[in-house]
Amino acid sequence: MAAVLAQNIVKRFENVLAVNGITLAVPDGEFVVLLGPSGCGKTTFLRIICGLERQTSGNLIIAGDIVNDVPPRARGVAMMFQSYGLYPHYTVRNNIAFPLRTQRVGRAVIESKVDWASRLLGIEHLLDRRPRQLSGGERQRVALARALVREPTALLLDEPLSNLDAKLRASARQDIKQFQRRVGVTTIYVTHDQVEAMGMGDRIAVIDHGKIRQVGTPAEIYDEPADRFVATFVGTPPMNLLTYNGAHLGFRPENFLPKEMIRGGDFSEFSFRVDRSEYLGSERIVYGAIEGFDSSQPITAKLPAHGAEQGLRPGEWHPFAVRNKDLRYFDQDGKRTDRH
Ligand SMILES: Nc1ncnc2c1ncn2[C@@H]1O[C@H](COP(=O)(O)OP(=O)(O)OP(=O)(O)O)[C@@H](O)[C@H]1O
Ligand SMILES: [Mg+2]
Repeated sequence: MAAVLAQNIVKRFENVLAVNGITLAVPDGEFVVLLGPSGCGKTTFLRIICGLERQTSGNLIIAGDIVNDVPPRARGVAMMFQSYGLYPHYTVRNNIAFPLRTQRVGRAVIESKVDWASRLLGIEHLLDRRPRQLSGGERQRVALARALVREPTALLLDEPLSNLDAKLRASARQDIKQFQRRVGVTTIYVTHDQVEAMGMGDRIAVIDHGKIRQVGTPAEIYDEPADRFVATFVGTPPMNLLTYNGAHLGFRPENFLPKEMIRGGDFSEFSFRVDRSEYLGSERIVYGAIEGFDSSQPITAKLPAHGAEQGLRPGEWHPFAVRNKDLRYFDQDGKRTDRH
C-alpha cells in the first residue's frame, strides 16, 4: 500500500495554476524527491499533502484513507519547513516535545519519545539549550527530531538544507539519508538542487509548471530522460542539444570526446571548434561550437583535467565524437523519440 497517494491533484490560486494535475504514489518507506525550478509548485503540493492548503480538485490518500477533508493534525504527516520554525524561548527538549504536548500525551511517554528522537539524531547533549545557542546543522536536527517525534506516516521536507553552507549541506545530506534509512519513514523531499535530488532520492519526480515530467530512479532520470526539459534540467553542464530539421539531438558533455579517445563501438563524428576551457581541478570543461549545427547554448565537452586538452587549440576545428548509444533524440515538442 502506498503511504501517500496523490490522484490528479490540481491547485488554482485565482489566476495561477500552481499544481496542474499531479498523480504520484509513494510506497511505504520510500525517499522520493520532488525536483523542479522555482515556482513550479513544489511547496504548494507539499502543503496540500499535509493539509495546510486545500486542493482545487483531486484526491489525496494517506495510509489508505481519503484525507481530503481531514485537518492537518489528524493526517499523520509531519512537515519540516525551510526556516525550521523552532520556538526561540523554548529549550530544545521542549521544542521537540511540543507536538506531543498539544496532543495531551502523558508525561512519561513524552519523555521517552523525546529521548528516542534525540538519540536518533545525536542531539541528546543539546536538550537544555535554546535554538540561538545551536549551529545551523544542529537546529536542523532539532527540527527533524520534532517532526519525527509523533512517528508520522510520512515526513515532508521543504528545502531543509537551504540555510546551510556548502560543506555542511554535503554532510547534512548524508545525515538525513542515513537516518531515513534507519527509521524507514516515508519521506517526500523538495528541492531545486539536482545534486541533492540525485544523491538522496530513491526516486525523483521532476516537476515543471505544476506537472510531473518524469518519475524515476536517479539513473533513469539522468540516462533516459523522458523529454528535453528533464534532459537539460539535470546534469552540469546540461545536455548538449543540436537542432536539425526542427528536432533535437542530445548528448551529455562527458560523452563528447576527442575522436581518438573513443575506443570500440559505433560513433558519430562532429567537427568541434574550441572557444575556451575551464579547469575545475577534477575535470576540464571545454566550450565551443559544432560545424553545421545550430544550438542556442555553447556546446560543452567534459574532459579529464589533464592531458586531453593538449592540442585542442582555441579557434581551430577538431574531430570529436559521441558513441551512438549515448545519443538521445527529441521531437519538435521536446518528447524523447528513442525511448520505449
Ligand atoms: N497563496 C498563494 N496565492 C497565489 N499564488 C500562489 C500562492 N502560493 C503560491 N503561489 C504561486 O503558485 C506557484 C507555485 O508556488 P510554489 O511556492 O509552490 O513554488 P515552489 O516550486 O515551491 O518554488 P520555490 O522553489 O521558489 O520555493 C507560483 O507561481 C506562486 O507564485
Ligand atoms: Mg518552495
